[in-house]
Amino acid sequence: MEKYVIKGGNALEGEVTIAGAKNAALGILAAAVLTDDECIIENVPYVEDTKVLLRAIEAIGAKVKYIDTHTVSICGGTIENDEDLCVTGEYIRKIRASYYLLGALLGKFNRAQVALPGGCEIGLRPIDQHIKGFEALGAKVCIDNGGNVVAKAERLVGSHVYMDVVTVGATINIMLAAVLAEGKTTIENAAKEPHIVDVANFLNSMGANIKGAGTDVIRIRGVQRLKGTEYSIIPDQIEAGTFMTMAVATKGNILIKNVIPKHLEAITSKLNEIGAHVIEYDDAVRVMADGRLKPTQVKTLPYPGFPTDMQPQMVTTLALSQGTSVITESIFENRFRYVAELARMGAKIKVEGNSAVITGMEGYKGADLVAPDLRAGAALVIAALAAEGFSTVEDIKYILRGYENFDEKIRALGGEIQVIDSEKELMKFKLRVG
Ligand code: UD1
Repeated sequence: MEKYVIKGGNALEGEVTIAGAKNAALGILAAAVLTDDECIIENVPYVEDTKVLLRAIEAIGAKVKYIDTHTVSICGGTIENDEDLCVTGEYIRKIRASYYLLGALLGKFNRAQVALPGGCEIGLRPIDQHIKGFEALGAKVCIDNGGNVVAKAERLVGSHVYMDVVTVGATINIMLAAVLAEGKTTIENAAKEPHIVDVANFLNSMGANIKGAGTDVIRIRGVQRLKGTEYSIIPDQIEAGTFMTMAVATKGNILIKNVIPKHLEAITSKLNEIGAHVIEYDDAVRVMADGRLKPTQVKTLPYPGFPTDMQPQMVTTLALSQGTSVITESIFENRFRYVAELARMGAKIKVEGNSAVITGMEGYKGADLVAPDLRAGAALVIAALAAEGFSTVEDIKYILRGYENFDEKIRALGGEIQVIDSEKELMKFKLRVG
């Protein structure tokens, strides 16, 4: 099975260009089926999650075409609204965003049937708030014997929905279901992530009437129909953050291009606080570090707080500081599974409830590692790049779900990393890099 082999110790230097935001793309690709017209979507990251969602969109009858690697055309006019219409299959259960087809198909046809979503095992990840929103719009929702979520409505009517927790997925899903509903929908305590705004902007470019995305009250006035559009997805905040922490952990100097610095503020401010230097440009950031880092306290929070999807990368970086840091995870209850892997590289991290207490050390030592999920997998790669000696990272399938050309981008920055699938290739790599 494919894994990464990495020889650590190089300071990563140079330039890297960030791809389109995965989590915005997933909402937008699903949203495209709401119209019968063609939508052309640019800056779609070419990662497993978007490929899987596009396969599912094609499987329900839409026309999907890659115009180039990052530009996709979707035409939802060929989806047949019959009783058999169901988004299912083992492949779709693997990704979280399959649930966006619930909102989109319910909005389009007043009924939808989608296999219960999977995604990374970082906590329970219930979908009660999605269901609550659909029900508020007039749908009846149940789980059938096959493990599919089934939502049906005579007609969808705008309503007032208060989210009990701030949730990205439910906020997007309710927007998708509400854009074609009759009348006005208000989502209160909505999530404010940049990808919520991007999905709303995309829907508005199709003719929807959504106001307030990016604040905690989103107001949607239902429209009769949506039309085709051309739209370019925002850059990926988490991919950018991952390369930012990679620069710091390897004491490098990386110019990270195609970013929106405003979306990175929580990360930038923590990295500056621990002694790294982040310089912001219009659409790029330069991140540099040398010497020992300072410890800090971090708590993950919904946007504009510190993103939970950057928690493993930040812990990995803080393990290299001088002193004791504390990271509190307040979004997902099972997001510290990778800590055992870092411990095998010498890190001193104690998990107590939803906090990790990190006693800083000089440096990591290479080890054979297994990626437990997407972001933790990226964090282990960062640790391996900063480490002395060789490491391997197994289960890179998780990493490939969300990072485009991850190893290529790292190599271009001077990191020694390669995908291998045999002992022979491992030996060859070791001989080559010495
Ligand atoms: C999305 C992102 C994921 C990111 C997360 C938080 C996608 C495909 N994934 O996941 O990368 O880590 O946002 O930024 O965009 N919750 C409920 N009931 C619900 C829905 C959520 O209790 O119906 C809880 C969750 O258990 C969690 C919190 O709300 O504790 C936030 O979850 P949510 O924002 O919905 O995460 P996802 O949309 O699954």
